[in-house]
Amino acid sequence: MQTYDVVVIGAGAAGLFCAGLAGQAGLRVLVIDHAAKVAEKIRISGGGRCNFTNRDAGPANFLSDNPHFCRSALARYTPQDFLALLRRHRIGWHEKHKGQLFCDESSEDIIRLLLRECAAGGVTRWQPCRVLAVRHGSAGFECDTEHGPVRSARLVVATGGLSIPKIGASDFGYRLARQFGHRIVEPRPALVPLTFDGADWAPFAALAGVALPVSIRCGTGRAQGHFEEDLLFTHRGLSGPAVLQISSYWRPGHSLTIDLCPGLDVGHTLRQAKPGSRRQLATALAEHLPQRLADVWLQALGLDGSRALADTRDRDLDAVAQRLQAWHVLPSGTEGYRKAEVTAGGVDTRDLSSQSLESRRVPGLHFIGEVVDVTGWLGGFNFQWAWSSAAACARAMAAAMA
Ligand code: FDA
Repeated sequence: MQTYDVVVIGAGAAGLFCAGLAGQAGLRVLVIDHAAKVAEKIRISGGGRCNFTNRDAGPANFLSDNPHFCRSALARYTPQDFLALLRRHRIGWHEKHKGQLFCDESSEDIIRLLLRECAAGGVTRWQPCRVLAVRHGSAGFECDTEHGPVRSARLVVATGGLSIPKIGASDFGYRLARQFGHRIVEPRPALVPLTFDGADWAPFAALAGVALPVSIRCGTGRAQGHFEEDLLFTHRGLSGPAVLQISSYWRPGHSLTIDLCPGLDVGHTLRQAKPGSRRQLATALAEHLPQRLADVWLQALGLDGSRALADTRDRDLDAVAQRLQAWHVLPSGTEGYRKAEVTAGGVDTRDLSSQSLESRRVPGLHFIGEVVDVTGWLGGFNFQWAWSSAAACARAMAAAMA
C-alpha cells in the first residue's frame, strides 16, 4: 500500500493551496480529485478573471452558525498575504468594485500559481480518481481509490459544496463528515437568483433586463443582511449583486424589503415638484427609476401615469413613494445549486478547531474551504476563506508532524 503523510481529497482552491503549503513544509502529500481537470470553479470564476480575494475581507463578511469561527484563520492568512504570493508569481491584478481584486489576464493565472506551488512541494496528484471508501484506525487513514489503496497519517477534506454539479460538485464531504460523527448545518444554495410566482409577481415579469441600484434587507437580528448594490429583474424573478448577496440570508417564507430609490426621499421630492407642474407622474418618477419600471409600478398601484403631477393627490404620491422605498416581496424559491455560486451551511464548526480546521472527533481529519459552514459574501470572500482555511490547516499539520 502506498503511504503519504497527508491525503487531500479535492483539487480545488482550498485543496491545492493546502497541498502546496504542506508539501513545501516537508510533508509527503497526495491530492485526489474525481474530476479530470483541477480547480474548475477557479477557471469559471469572476467572468474568467477570478475575483481571488477582497482587500477588506474580515469576519463580518461571512455567514456561519458560529460567526467567530473564521476569525483566527482569516487573521493568520490575509488578503495581503495572497497578494504577496501573486507578486512572487508575477501575476497582475486590479481592483474593481468595493475591494474586489481580479486577475488582469485570466483566472488560469491562479490555477498555474497553485500548480507551481504544488510542484515546489513535490505534491503527487491522482486525477481523475474516485475515492471509494475511507477508514480510520490506529495506523491513520486508509482510502480505497480507483488507483488502489492509500494510507496517510492525515486526511484533508476539501471537496467544496454542492453548487454547479455539472463541473464536479458532490456531497462527498458531508457524507464523510457524517461517517465520522460530525454534525452538518443543512446545506442550501447561496449567492443565487431568487424566483417568484403567483399573481402578485405577474406585473413585474415583463421587466426582465431592467437593472438599478437598490438597498435590500432580509432577516432579523444576527441573521440580518443589508446590502446596497445593483438589482436585476429576470424572467423568473430577481438577480444582480444585491439579490445574490441577500439570497445567502434568505430562508423560505421570509420576505425582502427593497428600497428602489436609495438615498432619496421620494415622497418629499415629488411633493416639492408638484405645485403647478404639468409633467406626467410617470415622467417625474422616471427621473429616479428606469422608465419601464416606473410605468409598471404605477400600473401595479392602479395609478394613471399620464396624469399631471399637479393633479395627483398627495396621498397617491405618498403611496407611490412608500411602496417604492419599502417594497416587500416574498420569493417563492431560488434558482438552486445549478445557478448558486456557493453552498451555505456544511460541516458544523462546533466539531472543528478554528486554529487547525482539525476534527475534534477524529484526530488527523481536517475540513477546509467551502465544505465547512463558513460562507462568504459575493466579492472574493469565498476564495479568501479557501486560502485562509487551507493555510491554517497546512501550518497545523506541518507543526504537528515536525
Ligand atoms: P472547490 O469547489 O473549488 O473544489 C472542490 C474540488 O473537490 C473540486 O475540484 C471537485 O472536483 C472535487 N470533488 C468534489 N467531490 C469530490 C469527490 N467525491 N471526490 C474527489 N474530488 C471531489 N468565489 C470568489 O471568492 N470569487 C469569485 O469570483 C467566485 N466566482 C464564482 C463563480 C462561479 C460560477 C462559482 C460556481 C463559484 C464562484 N466562487 C467565487 C466561489 C468559489 O469558487 C468557491 O467558494 C471555491 O472554489 C471553494 O473552494 P473549495 O476548494 O472549497 O471547493
